[in-house]
Amino acid sequence: MAGFVIENIGMLATPMGTAAKYGEGQGEVSIMRDAWISVSDGFIEGVGSGAVPKAENTFDAGGGLVTPGLVDPHTHLVFGGWREHELAMKLRDVPYLDILAAGGGILSTVRSTRAASEAELIDKAMLVLERMLALGVTTCEAKSGYGLSLDDELKLLRAAVKLDEMQPIDIVRTFMGAHAVPPEYIDDRDAYVDLVVDKMIPAAAGMAEYCDVFCETGAFTVEETRRILLSAKDAGLRPKCHSDEINAIGGTEMAAEIGAVSCEHLICVEPAGIEAMSRHGTIACCLPATSFYLNAAYAPARAMISAGIPVAFGSDFNPGSCPTYSLQLAMNIGCYKYRMTPEECLTAVTLNAAAAIGRAAIVGSVEVGKKADILIWDAPNLEQICYRFGDNLVRSVFKNGELRSGATSHVK
Ligand code: NIG
Ligand code: FE
Repeated sequence: MAGFVIENIGMLATPMGTAAKYGEGQGEVSIMRDAWISVSDGFIEGVGSGAVPKAENTFDAGGGLVTPGLVDPHTHLVFGGWREHELAMKLRDVPYLDILAAGGGILSTVRSTRAASEAELIDKAMLVLERMLALGVTTCEAKSGYGLSLDDELKLLRAAVKLDEMQPIDIVRTFMGAHAVPPEYIDDRDAYVDLVVDKMIPAAAGMAEYCDVFCETGAFTVEETRRILLSAKDAGLRPKCHSDEINAIGGTEMAAEIGAVSCEHLICVEPAGIEAMSRHGTIACCLPATSFYLNAAYAPARAMISAGIPVAFGSDFNPGSCPTYSLQLAMNIGCYKYRMTPEECLTAVTLNAAAAIGRAAIVGSVEVGKKADILIWDAPNLEQICYRFGDNLVRSVFKNGELRSGATSHVK
């Protein structure tokens, strides 16, 4: 399909533009009925309603909803093993940070990841990416952070580079060597921060675009995080920060001040953190499925929208706090628990998510000149995809103008 038209679109719903939307703009989604999209060489060439332009090939959207491909701006895609053995502890309400402090949690996954070869990690992540695509994700971010040694962190980043080339989803890489202090440095954490700054960041700079740090009690302090993110910035990696997931220790305020692109989680963000993000134009990358899975509170997304902060949703896919990659589920939870409208949720998983990983100029909306990353849904409108849950409502997935997953024709 070099050039073709998607016709019989009952409703085309998309945010518009090449930058993150905030405030009232978060919910301003263009709705076009009886629409068509023409595609040429992987890009969107035209969008309209009514009379369909002539084309060699047409694809019938069956009168369904069409949206941009989903963008997942926060995943921990590459890791070894799973952690179902922690379920019993979770049911006894053992706190997440206590599991980590006892050498489990992230550190358990570090052991499985170090034991896995690059090829094994790639095979495992390939299965995930295939399912993510079927669920409508056409671009995702992938963090390292389960290696925690120079060689193992580079193994994870190399795997992500290869995965990007092996399958349709575009993968944006983030170095997260400061995800936890590994056991061999537990008595000398300063030496680990030195290793991250002096060895890992320079080596990661060629393979990743972003650097993230877990700024949290039991992980990295605000001062350690600041040092790591500033040195990353010097090396050309744009800063991000896992902050206010469990305890508000000031990470959001610091990250916004040093120019972080986004802060992640924000479950317990305080008014000063909201004020700092609003002042510095930081994107709030909220992770609704993680709150659900940790049985934690929900980030104050409405307050952040009111403060003029663009809100994006990520899956946070990882083997501990959020073993799902369904952004459709994130939309359901975002709608019901953050009290965001379906339009605001759509922007959160498309244009704002793209902005959080530096891709808003080329993906995140259905507009002339952007990549033809397009979803056809088994749903007639936007409300339905936030209202029904626990299913995959994506029928067909186009990536770069090619049908890469799902049904080839409409099934009633
Ligand atoms: O974003 N909080 C830090 N990192 C991940 C969880 C990692 C894990 O539990 O393995 C998160 O929730
Ligand atoms: Fe995360």
